[in-house]
Amino acid sequence: MASASASSSLVVHNNLLQFPKSPYLSFQSQFNPLRLRFPSSFFSSTTTASSTIRASSALLLDSESSTQQVQAIEEDFLACPICYETLIRKGPSGLNLSAIYRSGFKCKRCNKSYSSKDMYLDLTVASGLRDYTEVQPVRTELFRSPLVSFLYERGWRQNFNRSGFPGHDEEFNMAQEYFESAKGGRLVDVSCGSGLFSRKFAKSGTYSGVVALDFSENMLRQCYDFIKKDDILLRTNLALVRADVSRLPFSSGSVDAVHAGAALHCWPSPSNAVAEVARVLRSGGVFVGTTFLDFMPWILRPLRERIAQTRSTLTGEEIEDLCMSRGLTNYSCKIQQSFIMFSAQKP
Ligand SMILES: C[S@@+](CC[C@H](N)C(=O)[O-])C[C@H]1O[C@@H](n2cnc3c(N)ncnc32)[C@H](O)[C@@H]1O
Repeated sequence: MASASASSSLVVHNNLLQFPKSPYLSFQSQFNPLRLRFPSSFFSSTTTASSTIRASSALLLDSESSTQQVQAIEEDFLACPICYETLIRKGPSGLNLSAIYRSGFKCKRCNKSYSSKDMYLDLTVASGLRDYTEVQPVRTELFRSPLVSFLYERGWRQNFNRSGFPGHDEEFNMAQEYFESAKGGRLVDVSCGSGLFSRKFAKSGTYSGVVALDFSENMLRQCYDFIKKDDILLRTNLALVRADVSRLPFSSGSVDAVHAGAALHCWPSPSNAVAEVARVLRSGGVFVGTTFLDFMPWILRPLRERIAQTRSTLTGEEIEDLCMSRGLTNYSCKIQQSFIMFSAQKP
């Protein structure tokens, strides 16, 4: 792993003005750290290799002005949600809030640009649409409401304990046990809501980077509100991304761990979602999810499907089937009343 240090004053190197206080950039970079937004014209077809941040070299950089070390993480995992091509990033590298906010992203295949709104990076397929709007199923739309997002960690989530959920701390510990083999890797907390578990994963120091991902803009805003009250979290490798679980904006095989807390019953298509989770996991990567179980006897299930236009909760057998049929292995689960925590692994 290479390392480099930054000095605190401006210097001229090879006739280029350098910005040493932005230690994420190569000396050849002409990126101006004072520029916070990136209009689409910012990406020209003349983008040079030196200005494209591909931190596959995983540089470990020292900043004189701050005591923390910043690990530049490979940028080859954020992908275009439309074509899955790796995104080109312009701006400081790193998976932390400030670096992502100050970066612009562009897909070199479909030419679409992506940028941050508030403090989250919008990587939904619909991002940038001006006239067309799409309404999602009720289970997804419910959580886009500002009120539900506000109430979620202020009583709503605690109610789950009545159905057998063991409580935040215990759920977190159980998930961490399943994620043992993903230590030091990238974790994506899909459908993170207001980031209850994303914050715990990030603060644990177990992972090189944590992505808190949700479809709800308001949940992500809540998540940011919680993060900004915590100096440690603000400095950790924790990014906020808006995306649809059925269209994950990551390269195939680029993620070490996927967590989906109390989420499967909210997804419009669990089969598409689990297929996406299986696609983005690297070989050996681990998927851990929790949800409410459906205990309806199999003989009554056809009836249930007719009554309920859209089903939400699944049985334990259905969840296992979903994971195994998407090519995941080593399925195991823990059940307590209606609560299930399941885990499966990418072979
Ligand atoms: C019950 S909350 C779970 C929040 C958190 N993971 C937890 O353990 O408490 C379900 C979340 O799923 C999200 N969600 C629903 N549909 C989604 C979709 N298509 N893509 C991504 N997230 C979705 C909602 O916005 C909501 O935040």
